[in-house]
Amino acid sequence: MMIVAPLDIAANYEEWREVARTMLANSVHPNAIDWSRSADGAGNLLDSFDTTPVQSESKVITVPKDFVPLAETIICHSSTQRFGLLYRLLWRLQSEKRLLEILSDEDVVLAHKMEKSVRRDSHKMKAFVRFKEVPEADQTARARRKFWAWFEPDHFIVERVSSFFQRRFTDMDWIIATPKGSAVWDGSVLKTSREPAIRIDAEDTTDELWRTYFANIFNPARLKIKAMQAEMPKKYWKNLPEAELIPDLINTAEARVAAMREKQATMPPMFHEKLQAAAKSEEDEPPEVAGSLAGLKHQAKHCTRCDLYKNATQTVFGDGPENADIIFVGEQPGDQEDLAGTPFVGPAGKVFDMALDVAGISRTKVYVTNAVKHFKYIPRGKRRIHQKPNMGEIRACRWWLKQEIEFIKPKLIVALGATALTSLMEKQQRLSDFRGKAIPFGDGTKLFVTVHPSYLLRIPEEDMKQAETERFINDIRLVKKLALAA
Ligand code: URA
Repeated sequence: MMIVAPLDIAANYEEWREVARTMLANSVHPNAIDWSRSADGAGNLLDSFDTTPVQSESKVITVPKDFVPLAETIICHSSTQRFGLLYRLLWRLQSEKRLLEILSDEDVVLAHKMEKSVRRDSHKMKAFVRFKEVPEADQTARARRKFWAWFEPDHFIVERVSSFFQRRFTDMDWIIATPKGSAVWDGSVLKTSREPAIRIDAEDTTDELWRTYFANIFNPARLKIKAMQAEMPKKYWKNLPEAELIPDLINTAEARVAAMREKQATMPPMFHEKLQAAAKSEEDEPPEVAGSLAGLKHQAKHCTRCDLYKNATQTVFGDGPENADIIFVGEQPGDQEDLAGTPFVGPAGKVFDMALDVAGISRTKVYVTNAVKHFKYIPRGKRRIHQKPNMGEIRACRWWLKQEIEFIKPKLIVALGATALTSLMEKQQRLSDFRGKAIPFGDGTKLFVTVHPSYLLRIPEEDMKQAETERFINDIRLVKKLALAA
């Protein structure tokens, strides 16, 4: 007689283990169990077994330590085959202790195939879940913002992956709904359910922001269509707001590479020299005493405190209102900032603007500056390649940064990256020791530390880039909270 195992299609590891233990304790051979009808509500035939804990020495169940994590992963697979496979492995492991080491064994091969599929699906969920804000009629009635996301995993991975989202998005309420269960976080309790959820359709401004961000970080010169499609398979596209841009971005990639090459030829001598000359012109005599932030900016145009002014187009001073509550400090202007004379207007600036937008901070209300005010680079052909400023240059330029802070008296200073942190702390510091913390900075001001936006642009793996971007956005959300609380 075949025994029907009474497991739900979405059964988890604990539920399978309980059934498997009873079967094994009663010496039920794997071939005598039908796991495939688990979902159809067949009667609980386990009732006919003795389910009391097994005492006898010979019935003690042992497994190698690798089995449990493997089984915990495989149990998330959507095929009911998984129950039988795991039971077969458990059965065989009682006499074949080193079974898992035999990589050519059919059961072991299937186990690793299922494990890989679940891991890949988990990976994709971490990278491709996109939260949308839930509109609230009365925003003031709600202390925390609410978000929801729809995702379609291949396997029952919601329970397994939800703690990742809990860690990443602790400061907002969210629901991740999927046809294979849901997860809900309210700031204190993470709840998961294995009930299939129903999709609700909604568009919001977050979609627009993702699209803008994606278009900005999409570097046509690095376009590898195959790799991109492997990273972001088509089946995920329908739930990704940025995906509708992909066909167009691919089609226009070649033309944009050519345009980028043109743009990279950033040594326009006429323009460069004209600006340099203007900064030094006698009619433009700076005030002897700064007196105000505007006066300080004027003085800085003539800065020769280190040698960087010699090759840069102009001083790129801070930008923003004198009464700003928050000062953001970057490293140094890049190629585009050097030409525009304004900080954070190039690729890193686009990421920075996107994070401010998502966090609900208006760039016009904050002051944005750099630890070093001149672009440091080495010419390579027609291109100018960014060089990190050294300690002497950082020290020389701190003179300006300190005065910017004194004039503005912000509630919060945000160091974007290690150079800004080193300048503000007046000694070399490791970013990881301070990231995400608000440190007292004298006069009631606090210093908050996060990564530099260009770090996000340099991450080659798409999923890691997405995850780190989310983390950066969360840091900027925290910045808003800290400034409001100050
Ligand atoms: N990187 C910076 O640190 N500052 C800028 O202004 C631009 C890029």
